Amino acid sequence: MNIRGTRITGWGVALPDRVVTNADFEARIDTSDQWITERTGIKERRFGGTTASLAAEAGIRAIKSANLIPEDIDLLVLSTTTPDLTTPATSSLVQNLIGTKGGAFDLNAACAGFVYGLVAASGMIKMGSNKVLLIGSDTLSRITDQDDRSTAILFADGAGAIVLEVDSGTDNILAYDLGVDGSAAPILYCNLGDYMKMEGREVFKRAVRVMVDSSNNVLEKANLTNDDIALMVPHQANIRIIEAANQRLGIPIERTAVVLDRTGNTSSASIPLALADAAESGRLKEGDNILFCGFGAGMTWSSAIVKWTIR
Ligand code: COA
Repeated sequence: MNIRGTRITGWGVALPDRVVTNADFEARIDTSDQWITERTGIKERRFGGTTASLAAEAGIRAIKSANLIPEDIDLLVLSTTTPDLTTPATSSLVQNLIGTKGGAFDLNAACAGFVYGLVAASGMIKMGSNKVLLIGSDTLSRITDQDDRSTAILFADGAGAIVLEVDSGTDNILAYDLGVDGSAAPILYCNLGDYMKMEGREVFKRAVRVMVDSSNNVLEKANLTNDDIALMVPHQANIRIIEAANQRLGIPIERTAVVLDRTGNTSSASIPLALADAAESGRLKEGDNILFCGFGAGMTWSSAIVKWTIR
């Protein structure tokens, strides 16, 4: 049978140059490095750039790492919750910066967006796309009140990208699970032109719950157990959320990708940033099962199990 499966063939990241440490916050607002480290695991994050500029930088790197040129790409999917303009879509700006062919569109499922994008891209590959550039890019520092200690220390800027190509032999997206509970929208939102508002404790509780439920759901769909997962790549919001979820899932931290200590919460960028870090530090080998798991404002969630195919 001729399957139009999907495989990951390249990755790339982009972080702004400006490093903002916990000490920088300590000097300006009523907080401390100790509080931030103990409650979140974050030590530093990056601020700067635009959603389009970071996305283009990460996208160009991902195309190169897949040994392709921009004109080879026949679909660009940009996951972002911080578009540069109301219209046109930020993906239009990114298309112009990179020079990809075919269509381009934005997708917004907040911090769960990257895995939504992975699922959308693999569906479009089944329908005929051959080489898709999927980028997660966000500049959350622009919509965060830097004087509000309950949010300022968490959110930051960055981008990560992967190239997905048709695989006519097998489908390496083994299972996925997408969900949303719109009744929880008021616990984390941002009005147009305003700053984010968040009920931190409520988001925390629900995040752990949806990570566990959604991950178990994909494990069951893929007919796998926690022991079959070589690496978990969770959304990078708070180390305590990751630890609480992974403890319930029976996946130790040694098999989990973590970059939030250096990046903070970069929304759509967080999963590809963590994936790239794991790949670059030699933690992935061909045939490994990776469990991606995201959650975010909405409240949205998304999980997928993907077989790593890069040697
Ligand atoms: N520095 C010092 N103290 C702080 C602080 C900061 N940056 N931010 C909040 N506090 C204080 C609070 O004012 C509160 O003080 P009080 O007890 O005198 O009222 C105390 O710390 C505890 O606050 P609480 O909100 O209960 O802390 P917490 O342990 O829940 O940690 C978060 C707060 C925001 C770190 C945590 O709830 C969290 O990470 N939630 C999820 C957020 C998230 O991931 N959002 C994005 C989802 S995609």
